Amino acid sequence: MRKKIVAGNWKMNLLPVEAVNLYEQMESSQVPIGCELIVFPPAIYVATLNERQGSIFIGVQNFHPEESGAFTGEISVSQVRACGAKYVLVGHSERRMIFGESNGFVKEKIDSALSHQLVPIVCCGESLAVREDNEHIDFVTNQLAETIGHLTALELSHCMIAYEPIWAIGTGRTASIAQAQEMHAAIRQWLKNHFGELAGEDISILYGGSCNAANASELFACPDVDGGLIGGASLDAASFLKIARSF
Ligand code: 13P
Repeated sequence: MRKKIVAGNWKMNLLPVEAVNLYEQMESSQVPIGCELIVFPPAIYVATLNERQGSIFIGVQNFHPEESGAFTGEISVSQVRACGAKYVLVGHSERRMIFGESNGFVKEKIDSALSHQLVPIVCCGESLAVREDNEHIDFVTNQLAETIGHLTALELSHCMIAYEPIWAIGTGRTASIAQAQEMHAAIRQWLKNHFGELAGEDISILYGGSCNAANASELFACPDVDGGLIGGASLDAASFLKIARSF
């Protein structure tokens, strides 16, 4: 079943007390929310937030696909799972560009997440140069082919996709409604072609890139946009909850 999701990627922000306060403010909302909420705090806060047993799901922004071993500084997939995370971000453009993660490594992380019952949110998205060359759809569908193309339809049903145009991340420049819908529809069509009509229809495809309380309702009204992956605007409880009420 296609779910409506609003997810907050806190990136490398917030000190411990701030992270707990933000999570508790979000949890204390009295107004019913018609979507599933997820937050991706820095990994060192996952266990603490999980102890609060809130209704907001917790995920990690990064992990290593191996279960254990000599990978100084990394956090293993089993550790992530044991600390209570349910979701993992994979293929975020910041991981790809700053930390050199390739489609091949993203694919390994997806396989590892699925085999540990974690839900991968698979990020994809093009640079401004690629869009200006009008290659954006081919670029993004190629990212998908190389990262999830090998999955079965059943495995795909345990994943979500996030389309995050790099030129819209942290820039205040959101994709237009037409640009977002065009890409989300193209992604869904590609999924239908590869995994079958039902699998493509059922998967949630989130939009990310300067999505905020002012533009979320327009974006979420697009037929192929099932929610958002929010960066900056997820660091404020009121704006995050307003986004969550924008369906
Ligand atoms: P912004 O919402 O700050 O543009 O970040 C988007 C993002 O990268 C979410 O993963």
